[in-house]
Amino acid sequence: MIILKTPAEIEVMAQASRVVAEALDIVRKAVQPGITTEELDSIAEQEIRGRGALPAFKGYRNYPRTLCASVNDQVVHGIPSKRKLKEGDIIGLDLGAIVGGFYGDSAVTVAVGSISEATEKLVQVTKEALHLGITQAIVGNRLSDISFAVQQHVESSGFSVVTEFVGHGIGRQLHEEPQVPNYGKPGQGPRLQPGMVLAIEPMVNMGRSAVRILDDRWTAVTVDGSLSAHFEHTIAIQPTGGPRILSQL
Ligand code: MF3
Ligand code: CO
Repeated sequence: MIILKTPAEIEVMAQASRVVAEALDIVRKAVQPGITTEELDSIAEQEIRGRGALPAFKGYRNYPRTLCASVNDQVVHGIPSKRKLKEGDIIGLDLGAIVGGFYGDSAVTVAVGSISEATEKLVQVTKEALHLGITQAIVGNRLSDISFAVQQHVESSGFSVVTEFVGHGIGRQLHEEPQVPNYGKPGQGPRLQPGMVLAIEPMVNMGRSAVRILDDRWTAVTVDGSLSAHFEHTIAIQPTGGPRILSQL
């Protein structure tokens, strides 16, 4: 069942998502060669708690940290560690926060120093795919119109979408119905309605789509070792006009 949110609930979700956006912006600016992903996690936790919010991921299904930090061929759910970032890496930063019992969730992929042109294109196309998907999040469309827009941009750019992980409804739970896949035919699934709040999150591989989970039981990596990028926003479908991106500064 898809839980529609009232305008007042959406304002609380906007607060949670703003905390995520602000914390993510600070973590993003701390990314540089030599910093460890553990240090980025500490910054993330401090920024979230400092805003009176709770880290959403810490303790979620026993996830040990505040931040997911996924480097290079890591797709999502990289666990912060003593790994030092180096020039030319890319890192996916995924954060969630809870305010007033509601979740916000957002992710960005950023460059460590300067990166190759091909890597730059992967990151850019993934970000564009997210925004093209968001553009479809309007009343009257169906859920898979989002999915189709994402997949079509990614594949026409020569990259592949990850299918093992999907976006999701979000509210009093981090993961609510519906699932929001990054692939599919248009015109399928539930009709989009005012009060639906979705976390749309394309994960895009430079090479093949297949992923596997490391022995830490969390980190997802590409099977072919190719680079992967991830962007995510929490958005609300509004009665009129376009979607409201709650996790955008
Ligand atoms: N953005 C991811 C998601 O929505 C992050 C989850 S990490 C977890 O699924 F630790 F909380 F699982
Ligand atoms: Co999410």
